[in-house]
Amino acid sequence: MRVTRLLIEDFRNYARAERTIASAVTALVGRNGAGKTNVLEAIHLIARGDSPRARDDTELVRWGANTARVSARVERIDDARTVDVVLFSPPAGERRRPRRYLLDGAGKRADEAIGELAVVSFFPEDVQLLAEAPSARRRYLDSMVAQVYRRHRSETREYQRILEQRNSLLRALRSDVRPSALESGSAGAGEAGPGRTMELSFWDAELVRLAASISLRRLEAVRELVAPFREAATRFSGADSLSLAYAAQVEGDTIAERATAYQALIGQKRDRELWQGTTLVGPHREDLAVSAHGRALPTFASRGEQRSAVLSLKLAEAAWIRDRVGELPVFLLDDVLSELDPGRRDALVDALPEDAQTVLTAAFEAGIPERLIERADVLWVKDGAIA
Ligand SMILES: Nc1ncnc2c1ncn2[C@@H]1O[C@H](COP(=O)(O)OP(=O)(O)O)[C@@H](O)[C@H]1O
Ligand SMILES: [Mg+2]
Repeated sequence: MRVTRLLIEDFRNYARAERTIASAVTALVGRNGAGKTNVLEAIHLIARGDSPRARDDTELVRWGANTARVSARVERIDDARTVDVVLFSPPAGERRRPRRYLLDGAGKRADEAIGELAVVSFFPEDVQLLAEAPSARRRYLDSMVAQVYRRHRSETREYQRILEQRNSLLRALRSDVRPSALESGSAGAGEAGPGRTMELSFWDAELVRLAASISLRRLEAVRELVAPFREAATRFSGADSLSLAYAAQVEGDTIAERATAYQALIGQKRDRELWQGTTLVGPHREDLAVSAHGRALPTFASRGEQRSAVLSLKLAEAAWIRDRVGELPVFLLDDVLSELDPGRRDALVDALPEDAQTVLTAAFEAGIPERLIERADVLWVKDGAIA
């Protein structure tokens, strides 16, 4: 699949830019602060609905403007569509408007518009992925899975809502429960009255339903990543001992098995959840684990080794998307090549499928390997303009 045209308006430092994008390689070249990463960020937004570096839409809207638009023509094997995302940054004191999504000009729900385009991206921040808190890896995994299974996106959002509801109920129950009752080991929730206990059971059921399906999708995806990840890691660093696993709280290869296991675990953790006032069971406590020789990678790997591991993970991700969707994702490479030693740079270029579309950034044209530049469309970026 490909992005054939990109239009950005009042997005970051661009007032307006419109370009056709080459089907093979596009190299965005320009000095720091020119606006190269912003272009990749816009494509990422169309594909995954979020930015790798902005927490809030107001960061993405050009300073002084109230509305930004990113519009992309996306071509897949069997169709071509235009996806638009409109972002709002209201003037101070005014209410925030929700984003708008359009597919071929018609307003759609986020889940209908997002996912038309699949991307695999390497941003400088990604090097931290393995060393960061587990929440970063869960976000990564969910974003990857949602590129293939669109329901995953809506389910994880719904799960988040359920967690918030359940946590606030647990907090309310905690203040209901006499501490002495917990210390003496008697049933916690029973002390809080039957109405709230029933309410908690309701949220338990909601939690278990989504926990089972979210974690099963993640588990299956990680299992399918293991082989391509090993292959890529071997190619990059000769590190054939690397392995990948989904660190889950429960076992089970079907939704029903996992649901039963989560339900049982909730029972076991009931008192602790009431005591802590927070949900301790579910995929929000699980993790993607990368290890070598049985030890967690970030505990001993150098920054360079971690970068290689993350690159391997992303290449595995691309292979997974290709197998599942039937088409290669678009590669977005932000300043990656300059950060790699020559051996690894060549390995990365080798690993990029010839028939994939790649959009990359570099400060200098000279930093881009011969084999990429010879088939690249070089675009010069300066002060929020693409020449
Ligand atoms: N919302 C915004 N409005 C206007 N300019 C912005 C906004 N957000 C970032 N910028 C500007 O964008 C530039 C950074 O763009 P970026 O794409 O990261 O540069 P680079 O070419 O180094 O990748 C900086 O000059 C920054 O001030
Ligand atoms: Mg940049």
